[in-house]
Amino acid sequence: MIRNETIDAMMNRRSVRKYTKQAPSDDVVETIVRAGQQAPFASQMYSVLLSRKKKAPFGAPLWFVICVDAYKLERFMKVRGWDVVSNDLSLLLLGLQDAAYAAENMVTAAESLGLGSCYLGEGSMSGARIAKIAKDYKLPRRVLPMVELVMGYPDEEFAPRPRYPLPFALFEDEYPELSDDDVRAMMKPMDDGYLEQGYYSRQKVKIPIEDGRPDAFTFDDYSWTEHISRKWGQWVPSSADMLAALRERGFDIGPRSELSEE
Ligand SMILES: Cc1cc2nc3c(=O)[nH]c(=O)nc-3n(C[C@H](O)[C@H](O)[C@H](O)COP(=O)(O)O)c2cc1C
Repeated sequence: MIRNETIDAMMNRRSVRKYTKQAPSDDVVETIVRAGQQAPFASQMYSVLLSRKKKAPFGAPLWFVICVDAYKLERFMKVRGWDVVSNDLSLLLLGLQDAAYAAENMVTAAESLGLGSCYLGEGSMSGARIAKIAKDYKLPRRVLPMVELVMGYPDEEFAPRPRYPLPFALFEDEYPELSDDDVRAMMKPMDDGYLEQGYYSRQKVKIPIEDGRPDAFTFDDYSWTEHISRKWGQWVPSSADMLAALRERGFDIGPRSELSEE
């Protein structure tokens, strides 16, 4: 793999969950957000909210919320005498990308300036979290909090977390048939990497099994694929709460709205 300063900043980035009290200067904050803005966009359908006053998770001095924002788009279209007719699902899918690419540019810019960061995805699973952010920041309708992002100077040191081996991420020309052995080969470096670093055993973190089945794993052999399986094998089976939150924010997607138009 080729290495240079940019690649190194990306390869050494880790989600940081412990920060010093040092407040980043205005110059640093503005540079990070400005670099975020320079990400590719479909229609700049995002806004970045920042709080330096609220007590942020992990003791971080900066607490951003990256939002999908169709409101500003519609405001400037109105100035030009246009209304949006595009469907909300397409707007949302594009807006999510605009917001995500900007957020990740911010993360990389922060890393290059010696800051660490961590995303917080509760808003993608909780209508209440979306409503709370909307209220706190007085968001107009058509602005949807997408992800929270805390930042600051790291107060912990550890190796970057592993990833799937490249042959399971890059499929040239054709998606391969994956045997169970292939899948195990994909899982192994993830689980071995997390076990070697002792991520879960150090923090004594395990997602409980909700249906009362016995838990076959101890903190010493519980690892990443088990952790992730316990999330998506148990959490938020219904989309009703999120669809209601989206409607509340002014985005009307899904079968109910399609039916009501007929
Ligand atoms: C959309 C999204 C949501 C996330 N939500 C959380 C979260 O709620 N809490 C948390 O501690 N980390 C969260 N993370 C950070 C991931 O856990 C982390 O990126 C992943 O485990 C890989 O670790 P690394 O970033 O150190 O390489 C989130 C990351 C993303 C991209």
